[in-house]
Amino acid sequence: MATVLSVSGSPSVSSRTHRLLRHLDQRLTAQGHEVVPLDVRTVPAEALLGADFRHPAIVEATELFARADGVVVGTPVYKASYSGVLKALLDLLPQYALAGKTVLPLATGGSVAHVLAIDYALRPVLNSMGAAHIVQGWFTLDTDITVHEDGALTVAPAAHEALAQVVDQFSAALGRTPLLAAAS
Ligand SMILES: Cc1cc2nc3c(=O)[nH]c(=O)nc-3n(C[C@H](O)[C@H](O)[C@H](O)COP(=O)(O)O)c2cc1C
Repeated sequence: MATVLSVSGSPSVSSRTHRLLRHLDQRLTAQGHEVVPLDVRTVPAEALLGADFRHPAIVEATELFARADGVVVGTPVYKASYSGVLKALLDLLPQYALAGKTVLPLATGGSVAHVLAIDYALRPVLNSMGAAHIVQGWFTLDTDITVHEDGALTVAPAAHEALAQVVDQFSAALGRTPLLAAAS
């Protein structure tokens, strides 16, 4: 069993990214992993915008990253890149906060024109933070995510299947040592 930190990088109160990650958390939990959710929007703005490395919320987030074997990083695509609040948090973590960890990058967006934002924008940042293995990520169109009145979430079948596949690959990679995973 691995410990997975599931980070939602959306500032939105009604975030689809947040809901999608919490939905995927259930699949990881069912596979025996301990999943710890972290929503960047709950980190106090004064800590993020004031670059307050010693703020208790930043210290706590740093500890959550340190304790995790694997990290899911989910972000909405804003202006063709990942969100500013996600970057604000990542900037306050130690340089190698992802060292030795397996990482699953995920994005939601409104246009397939930005389907590669994970690869050209997010992946280099995760790599610079020392991630041992960044598995294949997935971009989900916002129109493929439906939030029902009772709060339940459904994902369009093709997107659901693709997400299940990348989550399962991430889960399998967590079972290997970082060295073996990086070599595969
Ligand atoms: C300020 C803003 C900028 C956006 N820019 C883009 C963009 O450049 N490319 C894109 O595909 N979608 C863009 N979108 C759409 C969002 O990425 C998409 O709706 C996403 O699912 C929102 O996730 P959230 O509800 O978790 O914030 C933008 C949305 C907002 C609010």
